[in-house]
Amino acid sequence: MQRLTNRQIILGITGGIAAYKSAELTRLLKGAGADVRVVMTPAATEFITPLTLQALSGHAVHQHLLDPEAEAGMGHIELAKWADLILIAPASADFIARLAGGQGDDLLSTLCLATDAPICLAPAMNQAMWRNRHTQDNIAQLRAGNIGIFGPGSGAQACGDTGPGRMLEPVELAQLTAEQFDTGALAGKTVFITAGPTREALDPVRYISNHSSGKMGYALAQAAVDAGARVKLISGPVNLAAPARMDVVQVQSANDMLAAAMDGIASCDIFIAAAAVADYRPTAVSEHKIKKGSEEVMELHLVKNPDIVASVAALPGKPFTVGFAAETRDLLNYARSKLERKQLDLIVANDVSQPGIGFNSDENAVTLVSRDEARPLPQTSKRQLASQLIRQIAELYNRAQ
Ligand code: PMT
Repeated sequence: MQRLTNRQIILGITGGIAAYKSAELTRLLKGAGADVRVVMTPAATEFITPLTLQALSGHAVHQHLLDPEAEAGMGHIELAKWADLILIAPASADFIARLAGGQGDDLLSTLCLATDAPICLAPAMNQAMWRNRHTQDNIAQLRAGNIGIFGPGSGAQACGDTGPGRMLEPVELAQLTAEQFDTGALAGKTVFITAGPTREALDPVRYISNHSSGKMGYALAQAAVDAGARVKLISGPVNLAAPARMDVVQVQSANDMLAAAMDGIASCDIFIAAAAVADYRPTAVSEHKIKKGSEEVMELHLVKNPDIVASVAALPGKPFTVGFAAETRDLLNYARSKLERKQLDLIVANDVSQPGIGFNSDENAVTLVSRDEARPLPQTSKRQLASQLIRQIAELYNRAQ
């Protein structure tokens, strides 16, 4: 079920007595880490209320194709693009016939026409309807069109008949849905990533900071999500849009970043510190804007900030902890001494003196340093580099378990 982490699933519910089981299915998919949006046909709402599914999925239920209010939010094309998979459970004989016929006469069938995502059906109907030649022809046609058919099971039916046509149990459907996705290198793991600079206030309008853009940390967060991890991205102030499928916590100062890092740290498996945290902050923050005086030289008094990654690495039962070392000379020596001093499992040595890489660039080149080895990763886009780093961090994390 770990394969469901971060997956975006549309659960379509059509009219049938098995619709009551869709509530449990929603709970199971959500519990396995998927984001579930429920789409109901009008007939489905006769069997189970949209309110129940809204409460379980955490999202308003989508019901109507021609609903101006819904289209102003997540319209049907947007919803079709959003889905990683559409699961229709229960799928009635009527819906199966309409899907096989390529119809788009309600929201759910239109989504099926408009999506590029895989579609899976869990048929549920009376045994005679299932055996009916038209239904069987429709199922054969859908199978030939690469639509997944889960079940149906066989046994006693709500109408009193016995035979094939029962919807599979929610736990079986959740498992079959999970199997439609590849296992990511970090499936089911929780990863915290710090990114961007911190700002250390001097007064209400001025601060001390640095040139970190957050691009490296955000790329790592995206790569970790793609590898199946649950991600908390703790971001200093940057000009990047908050990415989807992760928990993004915006912070300003090193102290804020430390508090966000420690919040829920017991659940964290891997901590990656890509942020450029200010080592010092002003001893006091002036309540009002500091006025220019007659003196030619102004002295600032600074106090050391907490070291976030070292504080995480010092915790009992600490997560696998990965730091960065931004250096302008003697890269590997300084990186190794930071690895030791901060008691890290790995450090990413980043030569920030080279043009075109490091701070605020779209590309980077690093060396991944452990106590036993140093693996150079040549210059490429931060996006590419992030997926290489996440793959290697996952491998070294698994080796350390
Ligand atoms: O954000 P971009 O523009 O994409 O640039 C990426 C980057 C150059 C900022 C990034 O790749 C990088 O090298 N980040 C680390 C920058 C840094 O501050 O390195 P450092 O050598 O000063 O710190 C060593 C490690 O300790 C880092 O993991 C840092 O996050 C952490 N640290 C430092 C100080 C502090 N008070 N708390 C910390 O956690």
